[in-house]
Amino acid sequence: MKTYVENMPNFILEFNNTMNRKLKLWELNRVSEELFKEQPKFPVIVILNDIRSLNNIGSFFRTSDAFNVEKIYLCGITAIPPHREIQKTALGATETVNWEHRSSIIELVNELKSQGVKVASIEQAEKTTFLQHIHELDYEKIALVFGNEVDGVDQDVIDASDYIIEIPQFGTKHSLNVSVCAGVILWEFVKRYV
Ligand SMILES: C[S@@+](CC[C@H](N)C(=O)[O-])C[C@H]1O[C@@H](n2cnc3c(N)ncnc32)[C@H](O)[C@@H]1O
Repeated sequence: MKTYVENMPNFILEFNNTMNRKLKLWELNRVSEELFKEQPKFPVIVILNDIRSLNNIGSFFRTSDAFNVEKIYLCGITAIPPHREIQKTALGATETVNWEHRSSIIELVNELKSQGVKVASIEQAEKTTFLQHIHELDYEKIALVFGNEVDGVDQDVIDASDYIIEIPQFGTKHSLNVSVCAGVILWEFVKRYV
């Protein structure tokens, strides 16, 4: 069967080469929901520590789908799907990404650690590894903890973490929006598998 591009007349292809035509949705060749669920995931787990904003939760789902993460743990007060406000930013990713709710984040962190998973809190703290140095970290599978919009990651979770990762900032604001932070962090952790 001919591909979409092979079917195009030459003059359109030349025009498109010149113009660097944006791709249509159906030309992005994304996997189906069924194939996504079956495909092996990158050994990266996301843990949400009391995320208050439903839109932020939805964004975590969409980004975790894009970066093929193994699972999202929704901890404490973090709301769970289905919810209209989560759906607005998740755009269906709540149906593709594995997730589970846990009431106690510290119990989850200790459980994962006992299974050999390294836990990295994403936070600003006294002693951190800046994002540009994460290639120096030693792990097979990593769980990344993102903190509440006001209070950040719980101190007992920070204390139990193997690593604390900080994104350098060069402007006037103290911190990034947590779901923006997720986009930056997750790419840095999955790019080694690409
Ligand atoms: C708005 S911040 C929380 C505010 C601040 N950490 C505090 O405790 O006052 C929400 C979450 O975003 C993430 N975050 C935002 N900016 C960050 C940065 N520059 N480095 C690492 N994590 C960051 C962390 O996971 C943090 O817990």
